[in-house]
Amino acid sequence: MSSKPRLYSGMQPSAESLQIGNYIGALLNWKALQQTHDAYFSIVDLHAITVAQDPALLRENTRRTAAQYIAAGIDPSASTLYVQSHVPAHAQLAWVLNTITGFGEASRMTQFKDKSARQGTDATTVGLFAYPTLMAADILLYDTQIVPVGEDQRQHVELTRDLAERFNSRFGPTFTVPEVSIVRDTAKIYDLQNPAAKMSKSAESHAGVIWVLDEPSVTAKKIMRAVTDADGGVVFDRENKPGVSNLLTIYSVMAERSVQSLEDEYAGRGYGDLKKGLVEVVAGTFGPIRERVQELLGDPAELERLLAHNAERAASVADVTLARAYAGVGLLPRTSQ
Ligand code: TYM
Repeated sequence: MSSKPRLYSGMQPSAESLQIGNYIGALLNWKALQQTHDAYFSIVDLHAITVAQDPALLRENTRRTAAQYIAAGIDPSASTLYVQSHVPAHAQLAWVLNTITGFGEASRMTQFKDKSARQGTDATTVGLFAYPTLMAADILLYDTQIVPVGEDQRQHVELTRDLAERFNSRFGPTFTVPEVSIVRDTAKIYDLQNPAAKMSKSAESHAGVIWVLDEPSVTAKKIMRAVTDADGGVVFDRENKPGVSNLLTIYSVMAERSVQSLEDEYAGRGYGDLKKGLVEVVAGTFGPIRERVQELLGDPAELERLLAHNAERAASVADVTLARAYAGVGLLPRTSQ
């Protein structure tokens, strides 16, 4: 086993493209952390089906998400990059965790409350309700020490910690209790049209969502139309200038420059220039990623071979933890014939 600390994270293949919040809030950190950690990155297709998906599109989006991980810099030979449903232990451990999760504590998950409110009671499924216990299973199966995510996932990782501690105290030491890792400045990228709301793949309108795989002209239009304010000053002030502050955060991360240096450069020049600068930086970063994604998708058999190989590596770790958890709760092992 590697002596590096174990890291786990994942993304849903719930759209054709990732959005810039996924890229900044998660992928960029993953890329840096894979150097120093024994990293596991999954494409969480079992989570994606907690809301209705078109089956053919889900298969395609799963490949596309994998391709975007790799194109953005995840190295599938150094990190274990795989599809969640290829490792059956995830669903199996999730079931066990369901049995130690309180109905009340699952009901308090804000993502569940938001999503179920949006979908209406009739469309809300037991799967959506149990989403966080499946996420806890993902994390706990790998003896994970750190979980790098955006701010919206903090509560789920805290639930994971509670479940690990509860299981360990009820059934004996079984799981490593993970820590959440959130990069404060980029933990939440906001919608360009509504800078009070998180940018999201499932936003009702896509006018304020920047997609990694969009044509540069489409992205440029969205950035040029981003909501700002009447004040005119290029200054970071989250409270009073949320739109401009969001653009500055995105610009600063994508250009690897401090917010201060951007404020200095654009002082007295107005929002139009700031936006034009951002358009260039985004096009410069996403252009090569788009090309690489096309290359990878041009050879789906090779991509799937790689995912299968990594799933095997993941399963060999996950199966050991699952067996420990099954034994802990007292499930009778099936003996070999
Ligand atoms: P998902 O697919 O919604 O998002 C993937 C990652 O992107 C981050 N993110 C953002 N960060 C900053 N600003 C935004 N606007 C923004 N939008 C999304 C998310 O915080 C996340 O890190 N439940 C998870 C997937 C998951 C998982 C796991 C994560 C399943 N099992 C185990 C970690 C460990 C999710 O819905 O991600």
